[in-house]
Parts: sequence; structure tokens; C-alpha cells
Amino acid sequence: MHIDILTLFPEMFQGMFGSGIFKRAIDQKLVSVGIHNIRDYTHDKHHSVDDYPYGGGAGMVLKPEPIFEAVESIKGESATVPIILLTPQGRLFSQQVAQELSQYSHLILICGHYEGVDERVREHLATDELSIGDYVLSGGELAAMVVIDAVVRLLPGVLGSAASPLDDSHVAGLLEYPQYTRPAIYRGWSVPEVLLSGNHAQIADWRREQVILRTLERRPELLDKAKLSSEEKGLVQKLRQS
Ligand code: ADE
Repeated sequence: MHIDILTLFPEMFQGMFGSGIFKRAIDQKLVSVGIHNIRDYTHDKHHSVDDYPYGGGAGMVLKPEPIFEAVESIKGESATVPIILLTPQGRLFSQQVAQELSQYSHLILICGHYEGVDERVREHLATDELSIGDYVLSGGELAAMVVIDAVVRLLPGVLGSAASPLDDSHVAGLLEYPQYTRPAIYRGWSVPEVLLSGNHAQIADWRREQVILRTLERRPELLDKAKLSSEEKGLVQKLRQS
């Protein structure tokens, strides 16, 4: 996958791509990243990227020309690459959206700033708008990092074991079961007996029950949307009554 990021603050991405799973994924050529400064696509002597809003009001608005020019020069011939504007007005990002985006070989992310982005960018350039939650950040950069993190870790080979992203919280629309490692007793707190039993069928049953219990306790609304087996539905009913 190749990811192009349009931003006014390219340096914000240095930390992210310089360490951990991203560095490894880039070194192994599983993913490549282009970070483009929107300011490089201006033509006036002050390199202006923003201007006052028509109609008045506080703050500045990002101008359309540098953003259009940047996207057009990056996109090349490809007609199918998603052009995603990060904005609190976008559709809500989720694990499902991450999975959807992980199927593409190229993504372009536009990080907005100031009071907003000229509406013509939304209307005539962006093919998608994403929000990472119902709060307003000072720019789209952190949101872009969240989206990239959630997408890149789904790409084949990026995480050590191919199976591991499948067990994640939210993959099946439910929260993950609790995990333990050694020691078996720490400060008097024991690991649940069943996990030490070596009985894989019992461990699988316990984990399935924990997934339902956790979700019921913390995010009950997720259970209404999740695809459950009839056995799991029975478990939900039993736990709801107890
Ligand atoms: N830009 C500012 N706030 C944002 C949010 N919540 N999601 C995505 N982009 C943003």
C-alpha cells in the first residue's frame, strides 16, 4: 500500500514512521508513505495556504488551489484512489472502515486546519470524509495518524502473526477477552484457573463468555449490532438475566 498525506505540518509524522511497526513495515516495503507539504503547492511569494472566510467570521479557511494541485500531481492517472479529507464532519471511523480502506493499494489523506477547508475541496475533490470521533482537534494530522495506524496493522505481514489482528477488540464488533501472562500469581492476584488448565476447549468457551460479558458490561450497544451465533445469543440472555 502507498499512502500520501497532505499536511501543513509534515514534521508531525516523523515520529510515527520512524519507529515501531511502521518503520519495520516501511523497511520491508509492505507500505510506503509520501508526506507532502501543502505549502509547496502555492505560487504566491508569501506561500499562502489560507485566507479570510467570505461572509466574515472568525478564523481562516484553507484555500482550494494548493490542495487541488497537490492531489492532482500525486494522484497521476489513477481514477480509483480514495481521497480522504479528515474532518469532524466526516463519517465516523471504525474498525469496519479500517478494514474497508486496507483493501486499497493507494490512499490519499488530506489534513485540514484552521477554521476549515474551502467547501469546494469537499464537493469536488474528496471522495470520502472521515472523523475519528465527536470532538474537534486543532488539525487533521492526529486523525490521519489514527486512520493510518488502524489500516496499516491490517496489511498482510505487518504484524508478526497473521492471525493476531483477527482477535482484536471490535473485529467481530465485540470487545476482546482479558489476557494474562506470567507470573501466574502477582501480588496475590491469580490468573484464572482455566487458562492454566491446558484444556483448549474449556479455554475457548471461557474466552467466548468473557467477550460477551465484557461487551455487555462496557459497551452493551455493540451487542445489538454484532453477528452472534445462537449459542452466543443464549449466553447474552443468560448474562443479562443474572
Ligand atoms: N479534524 C479536526 N477534528 C477532527 C476529528 N474529530 N476527526 C477527523 N479530523 C478532524
